[in-house]
Amino acid sequence: MSEQQQFDVVVIGAGPAGYHAAIRAAQLGLKTACIDAALGKDGKPALGGTCLRVGCIPSKALLDSSRQFWNMGHIFDQHGISFDKPAIDVKKMVARKDGIVKQFTGGIAALFKANKITAFYGFGQLQPGNIVKVKQHDGSEVELKGTNVILAAGSDSIELPFAKFGEHIIDNVGALDLEAVPKRLGVIGAGVIGLELGSVWKRLGAEVTILEGLPNFLAAADGEVAKVAAREFKKQGLDIKLGCKCTATEVKKDGVHIRYTDDKGAAQELVVDKLLVAVGRRAATKGLLADGTGVRINDRGQIEVDAHCHTGVDGVWAVGDCVRGPMLAHKGFEEGIAVAELIAGLPGHVNFDTIPWVIYTEPEIAWVGKTEEQLKADGIPYKAGSFPFAAVGRAVAMAEPAGFVKVLAHAETDTILGMHLVGVNVSELVHEGVLAMEFKGSADDLARICHAHPSLSEAVHDAAMAVHKRAIHKAN
Ligand code: FAD
Ligand code: NAI
Repeated sequence: MSEQQQFDVVVIGAGPAGYHAAIRAAQLGLKTACIDAALGKDGKPALGGTCLRVGCIPSKALLDSSRQFWNMGHIFDQHGISFDKPAIDVKKMVARKDGIVKQFTGGIAALFKANKITAFYGFGQLQPGNIVKVKQHDGSEVELKGTNVILAAGSDSIELPFAKFGEHIIDNVGALDLEAVPKRLGVIGAGVIGLELGSVWKRLGAEVTILEGLPNFLAAADGEVAKVAAREFKKQGLDIKLGCKCTATEVKKDGVHIRYTDDKGAAQELVVDKLLVAVGRRAATKGLLADGTGVRINDRGQIEVDAHCHTGVDGVWAVGDCVRGPMLAHKGFEEGIAVAELIAGLPGHVNFDTIPWVIYTEPEIAWVGKTEEQLKADGIPYKAGSFPFAAVGRAVAMAEPAGFVKVLAHAETDTILGMHLVGVNVSELVHEGVLAMEFKGSADDLARICHAHPSLSEAVHDAAMAVHKRAIHKAN
């Protein structure tokens, strides 16, 4: 063991939460180290966490490739474009995705260098007294002492006891790296990963069947949004079966056999070539904490923190997927920055009420704030205004008329309480709602802001006007 090295801030984990914390801490003049254990597909250290290696970025790369392919077969004809049979080279598509991953993971290493952050490649464990022991990939060990330690260990896929991961039963990592389009793809879980990665392989030609445990589709989303999304996914041929209880799987010569009971309680069997299990993720705290650190893990396996991401142990903080709150990269970004600022004596802060959600399916789904269902349950009086993309010139010109924007505002104060969107490019439009809510804006404020014509954002504008029954382009 080499001599102990001293830092102002030691971050364990270089995913979105950890690398934001490290870079912001370094910007604020703090001597910073960041440790990450992950290796890329080439066996070399790869910074950036789940998000850059096997999450947000690679999934969006495949979503885009598959969307282009799908449009060739389903949309181009409307524009009068014809060609011989479309073909997909899956290996080339995956290689493109790998190139993007390499570019961005390498980008984090470059940012660390530029910010004079010391990177350690290996597994870190917190010891009592803010000491972090790092087992490096070359077998050596180093000991770091941090005035502050930030735990940013992220999350791993949940494995079902009756569906162990392997060649045929896969999680997001496997589903982002298939070498060919499976003829039949089964998915357990109609959540975000199931819908996004199920869409990728459906668009490329797989028969996709999704088995969801809950009786309601996309229970976290606004009910009307979920309804429109379900209708569009059905049109695309995604077979989503709700209220299913999966009980067993068996890998046989002809594929993976999944036994389940359907929503009527009848026993069923589904046979697929690949089975993607996407039933949620769990905080990755295994081996992270030595005995006696005082850091507490709750019954969901997450590191316990207060509203400021402090663990209650002097100088020890935790951020991102390994703590409470939504498992989203941008939530981790904000927590990482806030903690670095708090350490530097600045007023770091995260507003959980304005964290946007986006599901990158086609149509895209996005929201910020409360749903109508939540407002009703909380007894908050509200007014709703919505506007369909079918009446937005730009959306129709793009041959993307599906979906709508809905603005929810307080019935008395008119303050915007939520915005719910389903349709083309709503991953970008949702930020009008985020911005308006951050500035405590009203539906009237949004209605009085000039929006460019023709643009998709006119759906947001007209939805805000519809709150007061004065949308111009529809009957109120
Ligand atoms: P992670 O990104 O998981 O990073 C943690 C890092 O810490 C890892 O590199 C890990 O190797 C390292 N580590 C853990 N323990 C140790 C240790 N003891 N020592 C050293 N290193 C350690 N979110 C979005 O907002 N938008 C999306 O579009 C989106 N798409 C996704 C798609 C998929 C398929 C998946 C799986 C997730 C997606 N997410 C998305 C979620 C997003 O990836 C996570 O919320 C985000 O990566 C969490 O960031 P984090 O820094 O907390 O953890
Ligand atoms: P999820 O929580 O989004 O969805 C899991 C789904 O599986 C739920 O609908 C749940 O009811 C269902 N389920 C759970 N157990 C089941 C069982 N035994 N049988 C059948 N269904 C079951 O989790 P997912 O899709 O694994 O994604 C994990 C997290 O990663 C997301 O919650 C999100 O935070 C993040 N993510 C974000 C993305 C984005 O922002 N666009 C994209 C992908 C992931």
